[in-house]
Amino acid sequence: MLEKYESLIDGLISDNFGVVDDFIDDEMLAKLTEKILYFQEEDLLKQAGIGQSDFFQTNSEIRRDLIRWLPTQKVNVQTEQAFIVLIEEFIQYLNKTCFTSLISYEMHYALYQKGAFYKKHIDRFKSDSGRKFSIICYLNNEWKEGDGGELLLYLPNKTLKIEPIGKRCVFFKSDELEHEVLTSFKDRMSITGWLKDK
Ligand code: OGA
Ligand code: NI
Repeated sequence: MLEKYESLIDGLISDNFGVVDDFIDDEMLAKLTEKILYFQEEDLLKQAGIGQSDFFQTNSEIRRDLIRWLPTQKVNVQTEQAFIVLIEEFIQYLNKTCFTSLISYEMHYALYQKGAFYKKHIDRFKSDSGRKFSIICYLNNEWKEGDGGELLLYLPNKTLKIEPIGKRCVFFKSDELEHEVLTSFKDRMSITGWLKDK
């Protein structure tokens, strides 16, 4: 795992983003996918908002994904437990090797149904949520060109599209890198985490 953490960090340092394939294994992919499909079935995914608490609003012109937050207490998270461990280890690794002072995280599942998108944005809200790093892991087993839903990164000198291929993980700074999710032409699933210094 350390090698994967290393490549995410190396990418961030040299290219402003890191990407690693096979960040999770097939078993974890299957479990997390099963869980988000269950949430969809039970109608437990909700329209995502923009801004936080008092400023929270939904705006379907800006984003159209459906989300479900993971509980912050470690109850009822058997399915996600192994993924949470990966994230917590990554936080420790970052704090040790990069002198960050991350102390918490938040995570949600996201489903972009056919036609959904998320316009250009950065992940750190104006109200300052403490988000330092964004980490996204895709849960799409069979993704092919033409399915849409690419993550578009606005790098300093160019834009770059990343396909949301299953088990792939993308990592970048929440308060710096502008990005968007292009319209998806089929259901697009992911689990997204933010590593925080507050
Ligand atoms: C987000 C986001 C990107 C993606 O949830 O803030 O930008 O590829 N997600 O899912
Ligand atoms: Ni984002």
